[in-house]
Amino acid sequence: MSERDSGVRGPPGEPTARILEEEDAYQLPTYAKHPFALVRGEGVRVLDSEGRRYLDLYGGHAVASTGHSHPRVVRAIAEQAARLLFYSNVCYNDARARACRRLSAASPIRGTRVFLCNSGTEANEAALRLARRRTGREVVVAMDGGFHGRTLGSLAVTGLESYTRDVRPMPGGTRRVPFGDLAAARRALDVQVAAIILEPVQSMAGCRIAGPEYYRGLRSLCDEVGAFLIYDEVQTGAGRSGAFSAAVPLGTIPDVITLAKGVASGFPAGATLVAPAVAEAATQGVLGSTFGGGPVACAAIEATLDVLEGEGIYERVRRVGHHLRRTLATVGAVREVRGLGLLLGVVLDREARPVARALLERGVIAGTSSAPDTLRLLPPLTLCESDADEFVEALRGVVD
Ligand SMILES: Cc1ncc(COP(=O)(O)O)c(C=O)c1O
Repeated sequence: MSERDSGVRGPPGEPTARILEEEDAYQLPTYAKHPFALVRGEGVRVLDSEGRRYLDLYGGHAVASTGHSHPRVVRAIAEQAARLLFYSNVCYNDARARACRRLSAASPIRGTRVFLCNSGTEANEAALRLARRRTGREVVVAMDGGFHGRTLGSLAVTGLESYTRDVRPMPGGTRRVPFGDLAAARRALDVQVAAIILEPVQSMAGCRIAGPEYYRGLRSLCDEVGAFLIYDEVQTGAGRSGAFSAAVPLGTIPDVITLAKGVASGFPAGATLVAPAVAEAATQGVLGSTFGGGPVACAAIEATLDVLEGEGIYERVRRVGHHLRRTLATVGAVREVRGLGLLLGVVLDREARPVARALLERGVIAGTSSAPDTLRLLPPLTLCESDADEFVEALRGVVD
């Protein structure tokens, strides 16, 4: 059990069939969904409308960084909402000032300045806009297999065909190269390139990661031609790598880091963290967002950082991540475990989707990816060793 997991329970609420019917009737059918309705969460557990508990190895898609409904985060949100629910960036705000200071202090980029927005795709749009504006160049080098979001600029640098296939017209200016191939990156880089953008660990592609020399090499290539290095840390950021940013364990500091998902524990928030050289492009009016930097989102960011830094979460992620890897290696059907911290791809000797479905029947939510044989684990970062063991035993029960 995780430290905070007191065994989440609750009375069944609305009938499940009605919830599913209503959502299907009125929401556009753009998502594949599990056939149950979640109504509560605590730590690494969530509860459905029939009272069934699940061990969550998916984290609401890498979002529940501090665990579901961490009391400190919930309190900060409630208190800020009661004090001042919203005001835009036309006025200064105490919660925003603190969130920016804390993000800057946590960032490995020296002298980090912050743009606040509401989602990962917006954070990436801001990064690309600033890189192009600062360099006066149009081309961006991006990776096959990379995912950066659903707005047009982010889709233009996304390297997964299933997301981009029918998008017309696609904005131009992208040169795509294979992830992990430094020679290919070198061939793509010249003085027309504004930036390289990559997920340091390619999550949707199955948690693919490269050696430290690759990231070092990209850094040197960028420096040689005057381009910026952008890490999309929407998934790897806010502690999932075992540090605030994956740049630290991977050993190479970029010019820009983008964050969303876990940065506010599930309250919608995104952030673009930029080096001083990039910040020069951010003059008045260049970027903006009505809701970005709203006081409640900022209170959630601050409380999330309080928990990550004050409750030993980075160390826990490293420890439990190693433990998971070691124990997964004892499962016969596991070919390889790749990734970083608590963003792990479990490569199986078979299709991952039926395994994920069978895990659900055993009360475990796990992710899949665009790699058909790879289960994806993105749990709350409060996961502990015994939770990890419970997952591995469930997996063993399914595959052995
Ligand atoms: C690496 C990465 N970048 C960007 C995004 C887009 O984030 P959002 O859905 O908040 O726009 C995602 C979302 O899954 C992601 O995984």
